[in-house]
Amino acid sequence: MVSRVIPVDPFDLVIFGGTGDLARRKILPALFRRYSSGQMPKNARIIGAARSAMDDAGYRTLTEEAIREFSPGKTCDDGTLKRFLGCLHYVKIDATGEAGWKELTEKVVSVDRVEAYYFSVAPSLFGPLAERLQSHGLADRNARIVVEKPFGRDLETARSLNETLARYFDESQIYRIDHYLGKETVQNLMAVRFGNMLFEPLWNSQFVDHIQITVAETVGVGGRGEYYDKSGAMRDMVQNHLMQLLCLIAMEPPARFDPDAVRDEKLKVIRALEPVEPHHIARGQYDADPADEVEFPDYRTAVDNPRSKTESFVALKTHVANWRWAGTPFYLRTGKRMGARASEITVVFKDTPHSIFGEDAGRHRNVLSIRLQPNEGITLGVTIKEPGPGGMRLIDVPLDMTFADALGPDGGESVDAYERLIMDVIRGNQTLFMRGDEVEAAWAWTDPIINGWTTRGDVPKPYDSGSDGPDAALQLMRRDSREWQKVG
Ligand code: NDP
Ligand code: BG6
Repeated sequence: MVSRVIPVDPFDLVIFGGTGDLARRKILPALFRRYSSGQMPKNARIIGAARSAMDDAGYRTLTEEAIREFSPGKTCDDGTLKRFLGCLHYVKIDATGEAGWKELTEKVVSVDRVEAYYFSVAPSLFGPLAERLQSHGLADRNARIVVEKPFGRDLETARSLNETLARYFDESQIYRIDHYLGKETVQNLMAVRFGNMLFEPLWNSQFVDHIQITVAETVGVGGRGEYYDKSGAMRDMVQNHLMQLLCLIAMEPPARFDPDAVRDEKLKVIRALEPVEPHHIARGQYDADPADEVEFPDYRTAVDNPRSKTESFVALKTHVANWRWAGTPFYLRTGKRMGARASEITVVFKDTPHSIFGEDAGRHRNVLSIRLQPNEGITLGVTIKEPGPGGMRLIDVPLDMTFADALGPDGGESVDAYERLIMDVIRGNQTLFMRGDEVEAAWAWTDPIINGWTTRGDVPKPYDSGSDGPDAALQLMRRDSREWQKVG
């Protein structure tokens, strides 16, 4: 299968924070891969912007090192890399002062090309950057801004940030990144739901017993302890990534696959979410790995806060209060330092209404598993007769569509979420970006949960590194006579 690459229009992309961790690990390697694939026009310009003193040559060296370090396993043709580096420039600039802005305006070529400004800086700089782009005449109709997470830390701060950005940019120019929306399988979720007749008639509380969404990570907080300890799993993962997955699973079919039609339907889901009862949540904090407590310390040591009450794990049960989903619980869980790295959505269908094979045949349920990572694919568990003599014994077997197998060795070019999302910014397609009202609605649902923990002085339960999280998460399911699906 040959993948079609449609080149995007010429563009100038300014990366504020172009020397930072995100730029080096994700943005610059993603741009290089799009360049290598032929999607990025040869005359595109990437302008790194930060306070550190550097010239174009220095920025090219930094970028080359980043690409070599953070594109493991990918082929890196030296000639292509050299040509790509020729597209790079650098401006020393201060987001909070006037230094460098004149130089930037001179570098940006705005005639007949897309202008994109990527805010890969601390959130406190989003407002000052937007303001300066406008005061220096760069916030014209051609311009668009890309805003990284976290988008606020509660409803109030998100609303205030939306208001600030709206002073300088129209909503159609604002691209709020949630990189989960750029993952291949997340888009496949929509293709599977709305491109097949098979699933949609069963996609409701009459046929679905419950839905689970798990995003499990084996890593700890790493070098981001300071940020993470102020956020926790609820703000860092649930309010954005898991919420977006829930929306795509639960939303009504949009009339068209266009940005506002899709985002209108997602917004309805968030607004229909019921508040979460305190006894429907389990919070946890990981313990040290006994095999190597120095390399893998406990959460509090990792964030250097011995009294931290921030959760590195959360599991909860919620409901989408509408006609389609009334009575079907949605269980969400995410955590760091868990047993396996696995992001998976499982749709567990109800029992057949009557077993013609009798009780001995056992209880069997269809389970649809959508694996986001690793080993992207979809598996449908179906019940069949166990082969051989001995009567009618039923077993469950997987109908497995692992994308790498199904699409063959040349198919399914692996495109990182950032590659897809940055190209969408240039194309002007906002479908996979969050709209301001969506973000606010997500915070409106999340805030009471977090405020409840603070008011009650709730302390997360410890859990073993490499486990499935605290026992309370298992109990959350068992109280409902259900189990978490094994992932990974
Ligand atoms: P870093 O601290 O690694 O980088 C920050 C960048 O901003 C540096 O290039 C820094 O360069 C620049 N900078 C700082 N102050 C100013 C200023 N006043 N004017 C201009 N540039 C400035 O942060 P990250 O790259 O990790 O994160 C960037 C954003 O991306 C944050 O909003 C973060 O939450 C978000 N994000 C990061 C992820 C990650 O994995 N790193 C994941 C998801 C989101 P200099 O000091 O030279 O000015
Ligand atoms: C980020 C979170 O948004 O997503 C991190 O801030 C988390 O804490 C990461 O590790 C997970 O992303 P992925 O793509 O590795 O699942």
